[in-house]
Amino acid sequence: MSSRIKIFDTTLRDGEQTPGVNLNIQEKLEIARQLEKLGVDVIEAGFAIASPGDFEAVKAVSENIKNATVASLARAVEKDIDRAWEAVKGAESPRIHTFIATSDIHLKYKLKMTEDEVLERAIAMVKYAKKYCSDVEFSAEDASRTRIEFLIKVIEEVIKAGATVINIPDTVGYTTPAEFGNMIRTIKEKVSNIDKVDISVHCHNDLGLAVANSLAAVMNGATQVECTINGLGERAGNAALEEIIMGIDTRKDFYKIGHKIDTRQIYRTSKLVSSLTGITVQPNKAIVGANAFAHESGIHQHGVLSEKSTYEIMKPESIGLSQNRMVLGKLSGRHAFEERLKEMGYTTLTPEAIQKAFEKFKSLADKKKVVLDKDIEALIEEKVSEVPE
Ligand code: KIV
Ligand code: ZN
Repeated sequence: MSSRIKIFDTTLRDGEQTPGVNLNIQEKLEIARQLEKLGVDVIEAGFAIASPGDFEAVKAVSENIKNATVASLARAVEKDIDRAWEAVKGAESPRIHTFIATSDIHLKYKLKMTEDEVLERAIAMVKYAKKYCSDVEFSAEDASRTRIEFLIKVIEEVIKAGATVINIPDTVGYTTPAEFGNMIRTIKEKVSNIDKVDISVHCHNDLGLAVANSLAAVMNGATQVECTINGLGERAGNAALEEIIMGIDTRKDFYKIGHKIDTRQIYRTSKLVSSLTGITVQPNKAIVGANAFAHESGIHQHGVLSEKSTYEIMKPESIGLSQNRMVLGKLSGRHAFEERLKEMGYTTLTPEAIQKAFEKFKSLADKKKVVLDKDIEALIEEKVSEVPE
């Protein structure tokens, strides 16, 4: 197992395939700059042949980003590869990412090609891309539903043709962690010269398993993970970068692998992507949702106020948040209520005044989902106490 996993961010390509998302050049550049600060290894900036706007965006990202490899996607056809190269050639570290499907279903219904034809095309197009660029990634689209013997053959041959990264996508989010982990291990054991290239995985979230499948792959030898901020992407999305990274960090004891992400940039990146794409993050989303570091029940609040690790497995500061959040509602206890009073500046209340205010708070909390600071202010102004200092 490699001691450091590479992070290939595809927010600007697969993430942009989220229905309703359309980023202009300036927006893509702003996100790319933030991804650079976040410390991703590779930024897939777009699909250069898809539109003139996407071409210009990939070109602009290539010319402005100095601390990450910049990739463009290209089907395994010459005109796509030509366009991808035109777009990325100005990058400090350019990559052409070419792909062709390898599963029976895609061969029969989409490509209408035989296995031999696909193999021949894959080899020829990797060689073609290689004439331009030393860093060529090859993806076997729908790999997780591909006949394993054929997949192994394709991988072996594209490595011979010069591919430097082999990507194994779970294109339709079909696989399971145990199955996908096994597939990566088999590829690692059976493909000659596999240790000369990076093994990448690219998991979609149709069954809610994209992150689990990616982490299972890491445990079985994957050295690059493809993911997006906030898990954006086609249909149910891609594996979420923030969940993969915080999973690896929080369970260092288990994964025993490093990365070069500055986790303190995670929250800021999530906010930027959400505001520029217009896709809001669900409140209970792991790591970056509004409730990810919020505690409502009295038992939890009491625990966290005494010792954070009782109910927090990560520090909010580690993703760039200043603090956790106590949500005051009907399940909250006196401990959290008193703490909030102190934070709001009510430091000279008598125990009787606090008791009175707490009783009022409890009956208000029965009527409201969340009791806000302004509600507490109103309770105190009702002369239950002295004025704050
Ligand atoms: O999901 C997929 O298979 C892809 C490839 C083009 C890498 O996005
Ligand atoms: Zn994808």
